[in-house]
This record gives sequence, structure tokens and C-alpha cells, in this order.
Amino acid sequence: MYPLFVCEGTNVRVEVPSMPGVFKLSVDEAVKETEAALKDGVRSILLFGVPDSKDDSGSAAWAPENPVQVAIRTLKEKLPQVILASDVCLCGYTSHGHCGVIVDDEIANDVTVEQLVRIAISHAEAGADIIAPSDMMDGRVKAIRQALDNQGYDNVAIMSYTAKYCSAFYGPFRDAANSSPSFGDRRTHQMDPANTEEALKEVALDLEEGADIIMIKPAGPYLDVIARVKAEFMCPTAAYQVSGEYAMLKAASQNGWLEESSALLESLLAIKRAGANIIITYYAREAARLLR
Ligand code: PBG
Repeated sequence: MYPLFVCEGTNVRVEVPSMPGVFKLSVDEAVKETEAALKDGVRSILLFGVPDSKDDSGSAAWAPENPVQVAIRTLKEKLPQVILASDVCLCGYTSHGHCGVIVDDEIANDVTVEQLVRIAISHAEAGADIIAPSDMMDGRVKAIRQALDNQGYDNVAIMSYTAKYCSAFYGPFRDAANSSPSFGDRRTHQMDPANTEEALKEVALDLEEGADIIMIKPAGPYLDVIARVKAEFMCPTAAYQVSGEYAMLKAASQNGWLEESSALLESLLAIKRAGANIIITYYAREAARLLR
């Protein structure tokens, strides 16, 4: 699965400095990129929005004219064969960069879940196949599942970022999405890197709440978690090779210190060997070409 950052405007294709080869794309460019990816052999896309305007509650996230919603509609119309997943979170849309609504200096879980449901429904309305909540609020999978079912979107799947660790490897992504928190960090809701038990507990909860696919993130540094989750639950499991993992491989390759194609394939093979059924990676196009 290939992640794409969609921004406003037309003819926009701006490289992310800390992720050479990854671009912020306006919808028209995202269509071209998806078309090229499909030719390479990629079959699914994960969309992230990079809006021009942000506010305290992240309200642009559920606007029908937000770049992600427009991208979903346009891609579904022009390239109906592509499987479209969409990231559901507030951090790219809030002025403070947190994944939720702030009340009294804290992220308010239940208010945030209501907003996430609105985002999820707006993506489903636009035509998303898979809703991917990445916020890590409690109870959001259940709330999103109920709302989707009530509104006739029972065929829309949920890929939950279940075991999302509080990781240093998200740095380059936050550059791309302009989503670094302006105060504090994400330790209150992302998981402690030292803890495996919590991941298993979260998987059990998410499956009970109705998740179709559970995700572990980052991937490479957490292969043991992927393997344990897969062994205990045998459920569809996705792993996200995140921006920092990509940036490391890319930087070393650009310096001539690693041979890029064999290193990237080996990194993905390891994730697959650990048990992932779906791998989300910025190297999706290269990998698909190399594997053809
Ligand atoms: C948003 C989100 C993040 C990533 C995916 N969704 C960043 C974060 O938690 O700050 C990271 C992806 C990557 O690093 O490639 N909640």
C-alpha cells in the first residue's frame, strides 16, 4: 500500500525535504501518481491530507472540498480499480498539531471521537474503501463502525492503527504533513516502545470493536510485535514502514553506503516474514517494479 500526501491547488508537486522521492501532490498530480503506481503493480493507496488552513478543532478534515475528499472522489471516478484507504486523524488539521480536540490542556477523548466519526463518514461518502483511524483515541473503532453501518456503509472496512508506538521514526512525516505538536508530545495516547503486552490488549479491543485490519507501526523496529500479534490473533495484519525508516534507507543509499534496491527489498521481506499481510511503504512503487 502506497501512502500519498494530497494538498490543495493544481499542478503542485513539492518534494518533502526529509523524504527524497516523496511529494506533496495536488489532486491532479495525485491522480497521475496513482496511475503510474498502478502501472508499476501497486494496487492500493493510503491518502493523507495536507490542508492550507487549520483551526483549533480541525474542522477542515470533514469538509467535502478538503483535498482528501476530492482526491477520493476523483480517483474513484478515473481509476476505479484502485483500493483507496484514507487516514482519519485530526493532527494534520488542528492548529496545535495534536490528534484531538484540546480541552483544559488535554486531548478530550470523547469529543475527539465524535470528530473522527464525522471525518470517517465524509471519506466514506466520497467513496473510500478503507477507513484508517490513526489518532489512537479510545473507542473510536466502535464509534466509526456504528456510524458507517447506520449510514449504509457496511461494506467500508476499517484498518485500525492499533499498535501505534510513540516513535521517533515519525519525524519526516510530520515535516510532510506539517503536523508536529506545537506543545507537549503524543505520549498520552501513543504506545510505550518498551511494551508488547499493551499491543496485544489493544488488538483484542480493536477486533472486538469491529476493526477488519489491525496495524502495527512502525514496522522494522517492531517485528517482534508483528509476529506476536499474528501468532495470537491470526487476523489481517498491516505494518507501516514509516517515514523515518524510509528516510534512513534513502539517505544511506544516496550516500552510496547501501545498495538501495536490495536493502529496501530486504527491509520489506523482513516485515513480511514477521507476518504482515499488508505493508504500507513509501517504497511501494520501487518494490512493485523490482518484484515484477
Ligand atoms: C497521524 C499519523 C502519523 C503517521 C501516520 N499518521 C504521525 C504521528 O503520529 O505523528 C506517521 C507516518 C510516517 O511516519 O510515515 N496521526
